[in-house]
Amino acid sequence: MSLKHLYMETFGCQMNVSDSERIVSMLSDCGFMTVTAPADADMILLNTCSVRGGAEEKVYKRLENLRVHKKKNKKLLIGVGGCVAQHEGDLLLEKFPWIDLVFGTHNLHLLPDMVRGAEQGRRRSETAFIDNDQRLDLFPALSGGFRVSSFVTVMQGCDNYCSYCIVPFVRGREISRRADEIVAEVEQLAASGVKEVVLLGQNVNSYGTSAGDQPSFASLIRQIAGIDGIGRIRFTTSHPKDMSDELIACFEDVPKLCGQIQLPAQSGSNAILERMNRGYTRELYLDRIRALRLTRPGILVTGDMIVGFPGETDGDFEQTMDLIERVRYADLFSFVYSPRPGTQASGFPDSIGKEEKQERLERLLLLQRRLTLEINRSFIGTAQTILVEGPGKRDGQVSGRADCGKTVNLIGGQQLVGSFVDVRIVAAYQNSLVGELI
Ligand code: SAH
Ligand code: SF4
Ligand code: F3S
Repeated sequence: MSLKHLYMETFGCQMNVSDSERIVSMLSDCGFMTVTAPADADMILLNTCSVRGGAEEKVYKRLENLRVHKKKNKKLLIGVGGCVAQHEGDLLLEKFPWIDLVFGTHNLHLLPDMVRGAEQGRRRSETAFIDNDQRLDLFPALSGGFRVSSFVTVMQGCDNYCSYCIVPFVRGREISRRADEIVAEVEQLAASGVKEVVLLGQNVNSYGTSAGDQPSFASLIRQIAGIDGIGRIRFTTSHPKDMSDELIACFEDVPKLCGQIQLPAQSGSNAILERMNRGYTRELYLDRIRALRLTRPGILVTGDMIVGFPGETDGDFEQTMDLIERVRYADLFSFVYSPRPGTQASGFPDSIGKEEKQERLERLLLLQRRLTLEINRSFIGTAQTILVEGPGKRDGQVSGRADCGKTVNLIGGQQLVGSFVDVRIVAAYQNSLVGELI
């Protein structure tokens, strides 16, 4: 049987990146190999994001211009999955007659059957939620394939219902994967050469709390740290309200756990945090940061901020700026608030002008750029251990990450990929560092 060509395009967060890997792995068992140009494809799949209006518009634009590929190649199949697919369902088949398949965030396992049907001309949409343990049994396995670092899903969905957020509506209820299955998956990845795992979920530090019979996230980390071949463990994303002392202690006594944490605050104002339904105050947030830094001096903190939440006053925004200065984030992902259908906040009165919001965002980005560069420069002269992951920025360079998560480029050949090397940092830019082998 000749191989069919799959072109896969992924939007949105690491959850989608990881799901796409599982899709590719599953479809390779059905005779598909991935290609890097849509024009070469027998099937194009988009894995989509709807976290902000802008993210959704990007998907619709892309769907519009995929039409030309279908015109050129009548046999081409086009499928849409992920969060936009979950939200829109059948409507997508109506709006875009050139789409063949729509699959929701709980329906990845149906894809092989849906693709076979589509090859016979059957258009189909499947977006039913599976909000019980059966979802875990149906979750496609991740095949080895050589990679240095791999995402490993530990939990799916979200029950937090932050008032601005669409994720609970498009990812369903929070379910923790069984610890023995996670450990088995990591063991298999380690056997295939993976050196680093990134434990993945919308709110990993509430891992196990809804299941009852699963270990805590901290003990899961300790189990994974015991697996030979895995040199580094990271996790993302954490919720400040669930940042337990037990988890913070892992940063002291689990050396494989990297000195980096993504801990989104979303706002520095208690009034806004309350209306966001975040379940913590700025004081609690700063207390968690203090505890983390006491436990692992030098730990790098990254986060997310939302600017211009309904009713955000100048004073609220200044509180956010103040929090950023106090925390000194290594990096921050910040966007203007975007109302999402069905969320609580979409009904909140919003009197701040568009320009005002944009101005606030720009001030915030400027501050963060300064902090990022200051932090990056503070690494100059230090020794760092880099896990080399692939080709670097320039010819003759390779690139990897330091324990703290910073990207480091260094002169070296491809034979270094997959190994740990010690370097001295000799230069620092906005987005990366440069190292020299010691
Ligand atoms: N589960 C993660 C992140 C999920 S969404 C967490 O809780 O941290 C990723 C980021 O998108 C959020 O952290 C938030 O900053 C941003 N976001 C979510 N909804 C948004 C909205 N309606 N408008 C603007 N930004 C939003
Ligand atoms: Fe969205 Fe809040 Fe859940 Fe994160 S924790 S996914 S921001 S609802
Ligand atoms: Fe986007 Fe869905 Fe992730 S909405 S941020 S792809 S969970």
